[in-house]
This record gives sequence, C-alpha cells and structure tokens, in this order.
Amino acid sequence: MIAGIGIDMIKIEKMREALQRWGDDFLERVFNKEEVEKICKGKMYYQRLAARFAAKEAVIKAISKEHPLSLKDIAILNRENGAPYCQFKKNIGIDIFLSITHIEDYAIACAVAQKEV
Ligand SMILES: CC(C)(COP(=O)(O)OP(=O)(O)OC[C@H]1O[C@@H](n2cnc3c(N)ncnc32)[C@H](O)[C@@H]1OP(=O)(O)O)[C@@H](O)C(=O)NCCC(=O)NCCS
Repeated sequence: MIAGIGIDMIKIEKMREALQRWGDDFLERVFNKEEVEKICKGKMYYQRLAARFAAKEAVIKAISKEHPLSLKDIAILNRENGAPYCQFKKNIGIDIFLSITHIEDYAIACAVAQKEV
C-alpha cells in the first residue's frame, strides 16, 4: 500500500554556500559517512550532495506523518547500475522508491513510500 509521496528541490548554490561556511560540520550533520565517501569530489560533487539532501527531504515528506526521522536516519546510496535507493538506520516497515535528477543549478528528488506487507 502506498503510504505517501514526497518531492524536494535544492539550489546547488545553497549546498556550495553551506559547505563553504560550515565545511565538515555541515557534512557530518546531514550525511552519513558512507554517503559522503561514495561521492567523489570531482565534477558534480555539489550536485550529487544536493540531490541526496533533496532525496532525504523527499523521503521525510513521504513518511513524516507516521515516522518522525532526522536527516541522518536516512542514507541515500546507489545500486551497482547507478539507481539510487534509500536505507533507513532503523526498520520502520516502509520501503521507499526514489528518483533523483540534477543539472548545473538544481537537484530534484521524488520519493514514494510503500508500507511493507
Ligand atoms: C540513468 C540516466 C536516466 C540518468 O539520466 P541523466 O539525465 O544522465 O542524469 P540525471 O541528473 O537526470 O539523473 C542522475 C541520477 O539518476 C540516477 N540513476 C542513475 N542510474 C540509474 C538507473 N539505472 N535507474 C534509475 N536511476 C538512475 C542516479 O541517482 C543519478 O544521480 P546520482 O549519480 O547523483 O545518484 C541515463 O544516464 C540513462 O542511462 N539513460 C538511458 C537512455 C540513454 O542511454 N540515453 C542516452 C542516449 S539518447
């Protein structure tokens, strides 16, 4: 059963500014170690971070009524074929279907929450 949907959009400049201002503190507050380690600091670094931030917000929107979660309770990772997926730090009985896109200036993510049966 579909439990909810969520969408979020992030301006890449905001991500760049946050990192310039707070550096690693910002990364540690928002992302899990594994998420940061998997994004190489080359082309699209800020876009990929912003997309993961947007994905976390989209997931929270999709499930928030039932399960209050913090950004770090949610990990956004990639399968071998590149497709993103969401991993919760604790089991909440919800599966997430996730899609991410990013261009130079914006990142967008959409999440659909499904109750596990
Ligand atoms: C996967 C694909 C759809 C990504 O589209 P894109 O326009 O290059 O890039 P977008 O910014 O829209 O999307 C990038 C995100 O797609 C997601 N993605 C990557 N592979 C994916 C897959 N197999 N399934 C679902 N999502 C995928 C990732 O989350 C990625 O962001 P991330 O690397 O930061 O995690 C595209 O590369 C692709 O394979 N298209 C198939 C058609 C094709 O080959 N077209 C080219 C010839 S016309």
